[in-house]
Amino acid sequence: MASQQPSETTKSQSVHPINDSLSAPATLPPPAAPSKSPARKVPGDYGLPFFGAISDRRDFFYNQGPNEFFKSRSEKYQSTVFKANMPPGPFIASDSRVIVLLDGKSFPVLFDVTKVEKKDVFTGTYMPSTKLTGGYRILSYLDPSEPKHEKLKQPLFYLLKTRSDHIVPEFSKSFSELFNGLEKEIAEKGIAPYNDANDQAVFNFLGRAWFGKNPADTKLGTSGPKLISLWVLFNLGPILTLGLPRIIEELTFHSFRLPACLIKSSYRKLYDFFYSSAGFVFEEAERLGISKDEACNNLVFATCFNSFGGFKIIFPSLLRWLGSAGEEVHSQLAQEIRSAIKKAGGKITMGAMEQMPLMKSVVYEVLRLEPPVPHQYGKAKRDLVIESHDASFEIKQGEMLFGFQPFATKDPKIFDKAEEFVPDRFVGEGEKLLQHVLWSNGPETESPTVSNKQCAGKNFVVFASRLFVVDLFLRYDTFTIEIGSSALGTAISITSLKKAPIDS
Ligand code: HEM
Repeated sequence: MASQQPSETTKSQSVHPINDSLSAPATLPPPAAPSKSPARKVPGDYGLPFFGAISDRRDFFYNQGPNEFFKSRSEKYQSTVFKANMPPGPFIASDSRVIVLLDGKSFPVLFDVTKVEKKDVFTGTYMPSTKLTGGYRILSYLDPSEPKHEKLKQPLFYLLKTRSDHIVPEFSKSFSELFNGLEKEIAEKGIAPYNDANDQAVFNFLGRAWFGKNPADTKLGTSGPKLISLWVLFNLGPILTLGLPRIIEELTFHSFRLPACLIKSSYRKLYDFFYSSAGFVFEEAERLGISKDEACNNLVFATCFNSFGGFKIIFPSLLRWLGSAGEEVHSQLAQEIRSAIKKAGGKITMGAMEQMPLMKSVVYEVLRLEPPVPHQYGKAKRDLVIESHDASFEIKQGEMLFGFQPFATKDPKIFDKAEEFVPDRFVGEGEKLLQHVLWSNGPETESPTVSNKQCAGKNFVVFASRLFVVDLFLRYDTFTIEIGSSALGTAISITSLKKAPIDS
């Protein structure tokens, strides 16, 4: 496949430390240069009212699946920018019409909050009931122009900074428990399903690292991951398939909202865990004028939806791509990781991790190939011109823009061998490509602030993903997996784990 490197040379930056700057100023974009691409009307059509939305929904979920849905339309219209309807449509969303952006050049308009409004678009063309979140519009649904956005994002930066010393030890503890269990299961049965064990380890890690509480020692016991999954289903059901018969999914949660009262008591259990554990965050929130109740509902969301939901996908995804990369890559990673840790006196430190270019690169490569949150939305704040690689398009104020990120981050005009896992893609000169890694709702070379919509946990997520790879190859020389599918992400089973020699 012919591919070309990006023409612009942006100065690459290394990953920022975990304590995100609170004071970084909002940067205004430079004035747009006049477009050189030929102007084109956005191709495609929405079909008949109601029926067009249902037909696209069926294609998206059942007849084609997301990849084919976008690929076939892009080929048909000979364009990476086109019109389509996005699920859920009737009777949940009142307007399912979007302008799809599939290339790495047009996609970043979604990060420019001077051009797009991010109000109530976190889940797309519908917003889940606020009854699912204690009656509040949670931070993820707020546009930075809303005063509450800053007041709710800042306490999360505070949480991440305050608890940063607890991340490494609590990660190692929770994931040692996980892998000890998997080793036992493989010894007994020859195979160990990974995902459920991952969910428990992630929840334990977050509870212990951020709030100093072991969930198992509280009323929650081991029920956290199950309670969250059910609550997430009430939020995201309209845009998920669970593998149930099509008719059942279509006539229930694809067409109607599940009543929030059914999940109230489960949500309350999660809420109580945070209410009794996060006093230091509430004090910071109250200082900013946010009530304890609103802060607590936001903390439930940030921990259970944003963080747990993200790691539920990322860690299996890392295992999937690393597992498929095979023994040679495993051996290079093990060598690099072990020698850097030895030089750091046997300790896992941020400094030691900076000396692991291959490890850092594989994490970025997985986030590029499989961005855990693949859908991004934004409503045009004014009339705009959007450019793809081949054309420019006039967008009218109020039109909904939708980016399908896996296509933008596998854009063959930006990345060589765009569909392939290239472990050292981001090593050395390759770091320049980090500006096109977009999983955090922004380029990897930029940072979240209280004035943008970039993921508040960006640096924490990269750090934890690196810890995952480091811990894995400190423990094991190599491993093998089997891959399946699941409603959210990849289903992984581990079939072998070859332990590292004791003196390595
Ligand atoms: C684990 C993997 C994670 C992934 C893949 C992820 C991804 C994202 C994405 C794509 C967005 C933007 C969504 C949009 O507006 O369209 C976002 C926003 C956000 N994320 Fe993350 N996230 C992750 C973890 C975390 C963590 C650990 C936190 C904890 C602090 C967090 C907190 C947030 C918040 C608060 C927002 C809204 C930001 C704002 O309104 O300015 N996320 N995340």
